[in-house]
Amino acid sequence: MSLFKKKSFGLEISDNAVKVAELSGKPMAARLDAYGASQLDIGVVDNGGIFDKKKLAEGIAQAIEKASPGAIDTEDFIFALPESKVFIQFFEIPNNVDSVSDAIRVKASEVVPIDFANLVDDYMPVLEGEEANEYLYVAAQKDVLTSFFEVFEQVGIEPYAVEFESAAMVRALFDTCPENHASLLVDIGARTTIVSIYDYCSIVFSKNIQIAGNTFTKHLSEGLKVSMKDAEQLKIKSGLDPKTKKGKSATLLKSPIDEIIAEISQVLSFYKGKTDRPIKEMILCGGSSRLKQLPEYMHDTLGIPVKVGLPLSKIKTKKGSKKAILSPTVIGLALRSLEKKPDEAGINLLANL
Ligand SMILES: Nc1ncnc2c1ncn2[C@@H]1O[C@H](COP(=O)(O)OP(=O)(O)OP(=O)(O)O)[C@@H](O)[C@H]1O
Ligand SMILES: [Mg+2]
Repeated sequence: MSLFKKKSFGLEISDNAVKVAELSGKPMAARLDAYGASQLDIGVVDNGGIFDKKKLAEGIAQAIEKASPGAIDTEDFIFALPESKVFIQFFEIPNNVDSVSDAIRVKASEVVPIDFANLVDDYMPVLEGEEANEYLYVAAQKDVLTSFFEVFEQVGIEPYAVEFESAAMVRALFDTCPENHASLLVDIGARTTIVSIYDYCSIVFSKNIQIAGNTFTKHLSEGLKVSMKDAEQLKIKSGLDPKTKKGKSATLLKSPIDEIIAEISQVLSFYKGKTDRPIKEMILCGGSSRLKQLPEYMHDTLGIPVKVGLPLSKIKTKKGSKKAILSPTVIGLALRSLEKKPDEAGINLLANL
């Protein structure tokens, strides 16, 4: 049964930070009412797993409290499980099966390494064919979800839909789905880079790489023998500018960036081998996509057009609130809450809980 549309906010939890956003209006003409963020100490959340529930609860409460220009004035929200904690699969199911859900579960049991008793999952059709349909299937461990729920209870907030990060991202970054080609989405955050493929209006592939902005800063700090704080400032000021420190800082930064590029190349080859759908563009997002000259460098090395995805490109905002908001995930979650039936407007890991 679907819920009536209700006022709610989006909540994103990364290893690095908590972000909340509340929108109002229609999905294609939304207004940002409130946005707040708080940094998390190292180790509170690691690789998407919670290691300090109390500190995470404090971080969420703080992000909500800091929200501006308006307040977050509801307990209901939509959440995205960190990408590292979900299994994303794409199954082809013949149209003549008796039960699609049984057929999907059989396929899932072959590839998803989670005990059935500890599994939450959901699926949705992505592509209809004459003889078979393609389904997006998403699963996670129930105990992972429960540990987040314990924290939410401490804060006094309640999720009514749970999806995964890249599904939220594409909602903020794409107005329509490209008909004849796929797009590559690369979210470079602080600790993690998520590389996903968006095709047929859906995420069809997603991979996590444990190299991102913090690694860039660490390489600069170690290579130039400066503190992490100074390295962070230098990184933001100069990026890949070849003139800074006689080119040494660009060279140091390119080493982890090249590792990300090598992974992206593999993803491109994998998709090329799997389908005949061309990947015609790459959308860069996440805080580290702001590294100066990174889009140009990625374009030169990978040879595909690179755009920087702007999370607020279709959202009305009050003056000055744009600059700090770099995450399409939290905006995409808040956008889902503006749909007529938000709990049904995409994968919802609470649907079969
Ligand atoms: N102008 C800039 N130039 C380079 N890097 C930047 C810039 N602004 C922010 N960053 C980097 O962006 C990162 C934070 O990005 P983001 O908010 O997307 O991370 P996150 O989603 O919290 O982390 P993760 O998803 O990795 O757990 C930090 O490493 C920060 O140094
Ligand atoms: Mg992130």
